[in-house]
Amino acid sequence: TFRKYLIAGNWKMNKTGSEGSDLINEINIALGKQTDVGVAVCPPFTALESCAKALEDSNVQLGAQNMHPKSEGAYTGEVSPVMLRDLFCTFVVLGHSERREYFKESDAFINEKVLAALDSSLKPILCVGETLEQREANETFAVVKEQLVGGLKGVTADAADNLVIAYEPVWAIGTGKTATPEMAQEVHKMIRDELSSLLGAGAAAKIRILYGGSMKPENASSLMDQPDIDGGLIGGAALKAKSFVELVEIAS
Ligand code: G3H
Repeated sequence: TFRKYLIAGNWKMNKTGSEGSDLINEINIALGKQTDVGVAVCPPFTALESCAKALEDSNVQLGAQNMHPKSEGAYTGEVSPVMLRDLFCTFVVLGHSERREYFKESDAFINEKVLAALDSSLKPILCVGETLEQREANETFAVVKEQLVGGLKGVTADAADNLVIAYEPVWAIGTGKTATPEMAQEVHKMIRDELSSLLGAGAAAKIRILYGGSMKPENASSLMDQPDIDGGLIGGAALKAKSFVELVEIAS
């Protein structure tokens, strides 16, 4: 496809500042200046500064894993878009299923964050995906569609270049179970159709849709061969330079 693939590592609650910069140094050495594929790492907030330094001469981009929609104010424990821009973040993961499940984030709140990110020149990686229970009840399409429509309210077609969607079936996250390429493609296609009806066909054709959920070097190429899978949001396999770099190479 003409969409530039993106391999984004979501480190979740792993790596201190120095562990993070060590990992980035290894990734930088292995990748050199490759530019075929977009590459990003999303460390925890506390490692963003050291990671930004380690990325100074690199094509690898930085992302955060969450943020508050407001620029500043009395929101104890929260981090704003302005603060993320100040630490050279390009991306921000929003609406990850772990945020939805453990921190009760709603589509409406995630939508506020998506709009605030776009407003602040951060590129949202909006995560959607069904639970096992929902899949077994044949609700996958309805659930994912509701998350998309809710998360993208007020977003316009001109955001297409800056918006990334990640489809992460919850039952595949951290479990070693992956959706088959056909299962993933079916949902990715539905997502692109939905983006087309929300934002127009031109915008939908530009938006990258990543797959996430136990993606690793062994299963990545068959997933990324699918026409509507434009890269991966990688958890476990992003914590080691070797597997992360292999994933970038597979996408290249
Ligand atoms: O954001 C990343 C996903 O939740 C995937 O995590 O690769 O460890 O399954 P995983």
